[in-house]
Amino acid sequence: MAAWYYIVLTSIVTIIQSSYGTSIDYSRILDSAKGLQDWIVTIRRDLHKIPEVGFEELKTSQYVRDTLASLEIDFKHPVAKTGIVGSIGSGEPVVALRADMDALPIQEDVELPYKSTHAGNMHACGHDAHTAMLLGAARLLKEMEGSLSGTVLLIFQPAEEGLAGAKHMVDLGTLNGVTAVHGLHVWPGLHSGVFASRAGTIMAASTRFHAVVRGQGGHGGMPHLARDPVIAAAAIVHALQPLVSRETDPLDGAVISVTRLSTGEGATNVIPDTVEVGGSLRGLSEQHFYRLIERATEVMTKAADMHGCTVEVTWRDPPYIPTVNNLEMVSFVEEAAKGLVGEDRWQHLAVPTMAAEDFGFMAYAVPGAFTFLGIHNESVGSVHGLHTPRFQLDESVLHLGSALHAALALQFVSGRTQVDMDTVQSTLRDLGNDEL
Ligand SMILES: *[C@@H]1O[C@H](CO)[C@@H](O)[C@H](O)[C@H]1NC(C)=O
Ligand SMILES: [Zn+2]
Ligand SMILES: [Zn+2]
Repeated sequence: MAAWYYIVLTSIVTIIQSSYGTSIDYSRILDSAKGLQDWIVTIRRDLHKIPEVGFEELKTSQYVRDTLASLEIDFKHPVAKTGIVGSIGSGEPVVALRADMDALPIQEDVELPYKSTHAGNMHACGHDAHTAMLLGAARLLKEMEGSLSGTVLLIFQPAEEGLAGAKHMVDLGTLNGVTAVHGLHVWPGLHSGVFASRAGTIMAASTRFHAVVRGQGGHGGMPHLARDPVIAAAAIVHALQPLVSRETDPLDGAVISVTRLSTGEGATNVIPDTVEVGGSLRGLSEQHFYRLIERATEVMTKAADMHGCTVEVTWRDPPYIPTVNNLEMVSFVEEAAKGLVGEDRWQHLAVPTMAAEDFGFMAYAVPGAFTFLGIHNESVGSVHGLHTPRFQLDESVLHLGSALHAALALQFVSGRTQVDMDTVQSTLRDLGNDEL
């Protein structure tokens, strides 16, 4: 079914696009972006020095506002505490470009002239680059403002890492009246300068749990007088895995990883009163993901009960929904990416990733697409994964991200494309159901 829809809808999109022709000069956008490369790198490095975690992006937010002000770009602030929504042009259609600003509570382990000056915090997910690239796009688009027919919103959101900053901004109405939203993420799994995306689900739904297993502690030599929460916790670890291997369609994707198992610091000849169990639960299909959350709670309760213990489970709220890309928006990304970097640096991803993103809330609210920008480059050492203390990125690609953002906005506000919203909405639903 998925393939069938894909073929039919791809041809509809092709017809719509060809009837308007291509008036976007991608090589000109790329040249202008190249001219801003040093400016974008400076911003990225300035931000890299001052990493701030979710909803605490005070200096970062101030830096973004100062930069927007210097470009004479109007903005709204605060939106969701530290968030900013800049605006270029006027009237309809309205297209939104989104960057996230927060860092991670990780101690940086890379020696760089611009390394983190905030002990314990690090831009290990590249959000400094996302913010810098969007400011680059803002500068490109501001220079063309006189010729735009429509509005470009520049969304700088807080708290992507776990606290759903995107959802806060959507709930505050940031996307009201918006036709399309685009987001970018630097990606160490792809070669530098490659753009990649896919229609349908690109990133997983995700949540975390924290469970306290309670028994009754006692003497290590007299277990019969205690109720051992360690045995209960071990049973929980084992009971969770069949939810993936036996209760999940093998063609669907889901994963449960128990990542914390702690009996505390007590003596090793003492049975503890409690054990902490924590972990991550992810799924590609939203419905099954919610079912897994219910089942995991149930299974943990029963496994604890089997050993005379109780368990109190708390789940991260809100869970992140899957990021589902709109087919038509991805076709726009494909066109822009090929136009900017050429056919061989555009990659259609065959499968989604089990990583998650709160951009999913934006792509759920309006048609949207999330795109990866490759940064893997051995000669500059950008070979380490996101969320690791050694993460680095190949800065030479930053202007490409700005160029893509600007090009995606121009597809809507250069007067070229009148997107048929009925078509867009139906592709979203069809793909959503099929892919999930
Ligand atoms: C990797 O980095 C080097 C040094 O900056 C650069 O010359 C090269 O073009 C980069 N590779 C790619 C694929 O961008
Ligand atoms: Zn991250
Ligand atoms: Zn990220």
